[in-house]
Amino acid sequence: MVLWEAPAAVYSRDAGGCGEGEGVQTETGKPVIVAVAGRKGGSGKTTTTLNLAGALAERGQRVLMVDLDPQASLTRLVLGGGAVGLSGIGAVLLEPQRRWEDLPHMVLPGVGLIAGDRAIETAAFTFADNPTGPLRLRRLLASVRGYDAVLLDTPPSLGFALNSALLAAQVAVLPTLLVQQDFDALADTLRLREELSELGGVERVLIVPNAVRNDSSDTRNLALLQAAYGALVAPAIPLAVAIKNALNDRQPVIAYEPKGQAAAAYRVLVAHLEQEVAGAIQA
Ligand SMILES: Nc1ncnc2c1ncn2[C@@H]1O[C@H](COP(=O)(O)OP(=O)(O)OP(=O)(O)O)[C@@H](O)[C@H]1O
Ligand SMILES: [Mg+2]
Repeated sequence: MVLWEAPAAVYSRDAGGCGEGEGVQTETGKPVIVAVAGRKGGSGKTTTTLNLAGALAERGQRVLMVDLDPQASLTRLVLGGGAVGLSGIGAVLLEPQRRWEDLPHMVLPGVGLIAGDRAIETAAFTFADNPTGPLRLRRLLASVRGYDAVLLDTPPSLGFALNSALLAAQVAVLPTLLVQQDFDALADTLRLREELSELGGVERVLIVPNAVRNDSSDTRNLALLQAAYGALVAPAIPLAVAIKNALNDRQPVIAYEPKGQAAAAYRVLVAHLEQEVAGAIQA
């Protein structure tokens, strides 16, 4: 079943929330917060954020994506020209008296987006000497209601945005290509999460092997990753032309090619994520 229309056709503002729906959330009605993170560029964070949102929405969950990358790749991806000049998450982090409810744009059925903006860089600079600066996002998201899940797309660097995301989220999803550079970056990201854990934040980690090819190199490296991290390694997402084509069409692959192998892989990943979320809520 195709759930989506072209994003441009459904692009509208929505003041806080997506209406009714069943879904995984905390008992108090707070959404589960998931950081899609990693310090390595190009590992698939933005792709994973959009496709997880699509797969969660297909299951009837209300999703809020937050673009924490000052490059605003996710925002540009889903809104195209509509992304220009939007007030985004950075502006609100700098001015906490502003309301989050004014920010979400409904970009797909059941999926809202808080835009990325250059003010994220300003916030990083402004809070450089303020140890509580990275806790602002957690405080802001604590008042979000009307969604079952918040997905944070993060930039490819250690720093303010990644710290903020790891402190705000209960679950970290770490997309990882099966190459040495990504393995090195993964170790750094896990170390950072460990360092921040005294301040709360992420309780569960899912390492998502991404863009996996059916060849001897990826088969070997996937086995190495599983040997190193065991149950932290989630079901893999294949390298798929359909995923690229869906991005070109500004859509999750589950909407673009719902019967394909890539859509099926995201459904399996979301089922796995929901188990982790349930565990994080109970913890
Ligand atoms: N599973 C996949 N199959 C095919 N192509 C993929 C897959 N995952 C990601 N890509 C492609 O890889 C490129 C990089 O992905 P993406 O932008 O999601 O990475 P990123 O980690 O968000 O990058 P950055 O660190 O710059 O934010 C994109 O062009 C996307 O089309
Ligand atoms: Mg990105």
